[in-house]
Amino acid sequence: MSPTEKWLEKDRQYVSDALKIRFYPLAVKSGKGVVLRDFENNEYIDISAGWAVANIGYGHEKMASALQEQYKTLSFSSNITIPDNQMIQLSEKLAGMLPGEFKKKVWYGLTGSDANDCIAKLIPISAKRPRMISFMGSYHGQTMGSLSLSGHTAQARFVSGANVVKVPYPNPYRPPFGRMENLTQQVIDYIENEMFTTICPPESTAGIIIEAIQSDGGVIVPPDDFLPELRKLCDRHGIYLIVDEVKVGMGRTGKWFAFEHSGIEVDAVSLGKPLGGGVPISAVIARKEILDCGNALHLFTSSGNPISTKAALTNLSIIEEERLIGNVIEQGEYFKKQLFDLQTKHEIIGDVRGKGLALGVELVEDRVTKKPASEKTAAVCYRAFELGLLVFYVGVHSNVIEVTPPLIINRKEIDIAVAILDQAMADVERGNVNMDKVRQYAGW
Ligand SMILES: Cc1ncc(COP(=O)(O)O)c(C=O)c1O
Repeated sequence: MSPTEKWLEKDRQYVSDALKIRFYPLAVKSGKGVVLRDFENNEYIDISAGWAVANIGYGHEKMASALQEQYKTLSFSSNITIPDNQMIQLSEKLAGMLPGEFKKKVWYGLTGSDANDCIAKLIPISAKRPRMISFMGSYHGQTMGSLSLSGHTAQARFVSGANVVKVPYPNPYRPPFGRMENLTQQVIDYIENEMFTTICPPESTAGIIIEAIQSDGGVIVPPDDFLPELRKLCDRHGIYLIVDEVKVGMGRTGKWFAFEHSGIEVDAVSLGKPLGGGVPISAVIARKEILDCGNALHLFTSSGNPISTKAALTNLSIIEEERLIGNVIEQGEYFKKQLFDLQTKHEIIGDVRGKGLALGVELVEDRVTKKPASEKTAAVCYRAFELGLLVFYVGVHSNVIEVTPPLIINRKEIDIAVAILDQAMADVERGNVNMDKVRQYAGW
């Protein structure tokens, strides 16, 4: 047994399955830039960034020294009782980043799920209305509050909060009402004319939460006018609009927040994953009235601790100094173009979409019927791993390859990644992949 296999054997023995989404047999020892290494020092280019967390890449020197320094200066303070200056500085910075001329505050947690739990708890209290609306296919987290807001198959085994009504997401590739024309209006009308007039009266609806790009739902980009029309709908009925930017926020789409592409203002935004450059931290930036609706309503002992807030501050300065958002725009366009080229070669690619470095490749058995090619998607990811590329799949039909590389990725690395994807797809199409091995990995 190789050292990597030995670690995986222990992982099978001791680590809870409830914690696992596994696509292939890999355990890692180290990482630098966009490359991860296993215990035999095999190298893998990672275009998942560990579910869009490692946006500044692995092992960034500036981050390493900032964290070491912070640990020596102040390793911990429970900021819920005795605040340190890192958390306060970060709050000022984040509040300044959210568009809108209104008073803002910041809340902290440890992972995207607890940030969306903050939304699930505080929005109804602040609005003094009990109901929330969210979208089918959305993934907001795994805690009870955030899973109640979610509409993904991953949370479907739990019976969740009865106060949340779920409505279709405007998916241009698979229009929820069967036709593409006026997709935005179809969904807005459905909320206003069907939901509001029946089971979800607007006067008892506190907020609508949405992902600006529905990520785990399949990297779905709504029509350009959807968020502006949703904003208007919220304004007509005095409802808060909340955008979950846990995965695509912090520069991944070519702007700090993905919703900024539509030029709207939102009442609250949740952040997580890449915020701490790999150190766990989540946040909600919102209208003061929302986050000040009561004392001690949603807090964790380690909320906003000095290490995680220092990590977030350092992460923000790295993104600015290294002009990573500029790199996202440039490399994102290049990557997408290469994926469109792949589409001309591989019949299995039904759709290529995304913004910046949040890209999705939807695989189908047939371009006309659009039958999801779920097993083949798992096989492409597995084969890509064997060829030295780490990529995951998402989607309510498990058939969308998600491309969310570190924002530092360069053209050469993209070329290698695309060549491996090309080869992996060709191997799957020719039936040259051992499907028994692929099936050992349940994925999701
Ligand atoms: C959009 C979105 N929100 C929230 C979450 C939950 O974040 P976490 O798994 O860090 O709790 C995720 C995780 O994939 C996500 O993609």
